Amino acid sequence: MTTPGMPQPAYYIFKCQQSAPPGMPKPSCVRQDDPESQQLFQYLAQQLMMKGIIGTVQPVQTGCLGRCQQGPVMLVEPGHTMYVNLNKEKIDRIIEEHILGGKVVEEYVIPEEFWGEPVAPAEMVR
Ligand code: FES
Repeated sequence: MTTPGMPQPAYYIFKCQQSAPPGMPKPSCVRQDDPESQQLFQYLAQQLMMKGIIGTVQPVQTGCLGRCQQGPVMLVEPGHTMYVNLNKEKIDRIIEEHILGGKVVEEYVIPEEFWGEPVAPAEMVR
């Protein structure tokens, strides 16, 4: 018999919330000159809440995920799926098709040349 307990989340969604200081040439996921980019985390959390799936889907604000040129980005785990160039519409589709439907929205995933196969830490360790 299984013991009832606190279920683990089905998904974590790590949303990059890094904001470059004004005047910085480097792009960042949250931009001073782009109000929509500033609203995306809140939008994501609200949509999950309205659908009643927050908790089993855990949105997490993170710092830089290292793919700033493609920002705004978010990483969905499990699956290691990096979504790029996000806006509200794309977030809606990702929730419907990936989170609820179980099917990755391939057209919003980072191009392969920016997301090559990972290197096993054991191969790199000194
Ligand atoms: S600022 Fe978001 S990935 Fe670097």
